[in-house]
Amino acid sequence: MNKKSIPFSDREHLGVNEIIAYLTEIERLVKMGKNTFRKQLIRLTSLVDKKIPYRDGHSIRVASISREIAYYMKLSKQEQFNIEISALLHDFGKIAIEEQVLEKSANLSEEDWIEIKMHPTRGYFIVQGFTFLKETLPGIRWHHERYNGNGYPDGLKKNEIPLMARIIAVADAFDAMIQKRPYKEKILIQPAKKIIKDNSNILFERNIVTAFLSIPYKKISQIFKEDF
Ligand SMILES: [Fe+2]
Ligand SMILES: [Fe+2]
Repeated sequence: MNKKSIPFSDREHLGVNEIIAYLTEIERLVKMGKNTFRKQLIRLTSLVDKKIPYRDGHSIRVASISREIAYYMKLSKQEQFNIEISALLHDFGKIAIEEQVLEKSANLSEEDWIEIKMHPTRGYFIVQGFTFLKETLPGIRWHHERYNGNGYPDGLKKNEIPLMARIIAVADAFDAMIQKRPYKEKILIQPAKKIIKDNSNILFERNIVTAFLSIPYKKISQIFKEDF
């Protein structure tokens, strides 16, 4: 796929239809035996992140951290890859949410919350038709579930939540804490790590937190400074 074949790259609009068109094109290439879809998905994710207010680079960082966690959990190379790809796609469902809702994020009404809480399921339905992405679906649908059952959309708890989603949940929460938002100051890396640690076996699974805390500081700061 060259730059010219990307239908929306130079346009302002990027919606669900454009994402589906792009994924269809990647699937066509995968079917032709070109198995290098990671780079193309990183490119698509960068564009999607730019469209979601205050989320620039979020999914790319979450993908890198998730892959590191999977590495320190000694998961197979294939699992590490699937987790990284799932994390790249985890917030695609936000593309369908009204921009005003995402922009305010502070005083959300009940309707706004219902809208936001639908993004994992929306993302799941955007991606589910693509066979080459089928292994990534659990991370997309369940990354907002919490270990104690207080998450959404399905209120799963402990091992009911697929491993991939439990891993992405830690990386996602960490990145959200580190980033500044209009309604909150950013938290530094060490205090953010402590909040994750304090929520071991409450919001996040202990083994995953341990693996997350094993990622060297240098690696984390590299992920947060890297220009993708
Ligand atoms: Fe999300
Ligand atoms: Fe996210």
